[in-house]
Amino acid sequence: MSIHNPDIKRVTTHTIQELKNRGEKITALTAYDYSMAQVVDAAGVEMILVGDSASNVMAGHETTLPITLDQMIYHASSVVRAVKRALVIVDLPFGSYQGNSEEALRSAIRIMKESGAHAVKLEGGQEIKESIVRILSAGVPVMGHLGLTPQSIYKFGTYAVRAKEDAEAAKLMEDALMLQEVGCFGVVLEKIPAALTRQVSQALSIPTIGIGGGPDADGQILVLHDLLGITKEFKPRFLRRYADLNTVMTEAIAHYVDDVKAKDFPNEKEAY
Ligand code: KIV
Repeated sequence: MSIHNPDIKRVTTHTIQELKNRGEKITALTAYDYSMAQVVDAAGVEMILVGDSASNVMAGHETTLPITLDQMIYHASSVVRAVKRALVIVDLPFGSYQGNSEEALRSAIRIMKESGAHAVKLEGGQEIKESIVRILSAGVPVMGHLGLTPQSIYKFGTYAVRAKEDAEAAKLMEDALMLQEVGCFGVVLEKIPAALTRQVSQALSIPTIGIGGGPDADGQILVLHDLLGITKEFKPRFLRRYADLNTVMTEAIAHYVDDVKAKDFPNEKEAY
């Protein structure tokens, strides 16, 4: 296994655009802490998202809604300290940008200033256009997020595939074109039909990053703990697990417990 494009010393939004321009798929994963971010970065992923999925994965909440801006900044600064190569993007959490564009700008600036991240991501289209424009005008790169936007779960009522109907698909396409027009450097497309992902990806010159959107997005993103098989209950069709770390970790810890109980750990060589 080797790092793709080892000549890229630091991934920027321009690098991401170049990858789309030359038809090379873009890779992205979430990370929320220093140690995991080091691993993800060293493995050659181009973008690391400090997702508000930290609310689920790190804090055990049912939804992404409870996580706060301060908590996102804590996770983001841990990730930024670890990362040498990848572009680090941070989710603006629920309640930190929906009020008005001034609140959105203040939240984005706090994230950039206090964590050292490189970009922010916001969920939504036309309804948050003003906020996106304001953040962009401060020189902060913005990634959009359309389709299944988990901060709106109580509006949707379900985590089912979005934009299956023509009207919602047409709005998603309009929103994606708007995000490009105002200057977003990319758009996440979550859990929408593969055919719609293909249409949007062809219509946009900026990269699309899919999760549950089929193979034709310009790049793919997954939640790290799902890919590694640390989370066990979450089994959507779009998820490919690349390891079963839950079993590996449980066995390792049970082995440690056995060794301590059996007075086998620590042994003489492991003592001073
Ligand atoms: O919070 C998150 O992890 C995300 C990805 C699923 C795209 O937004």
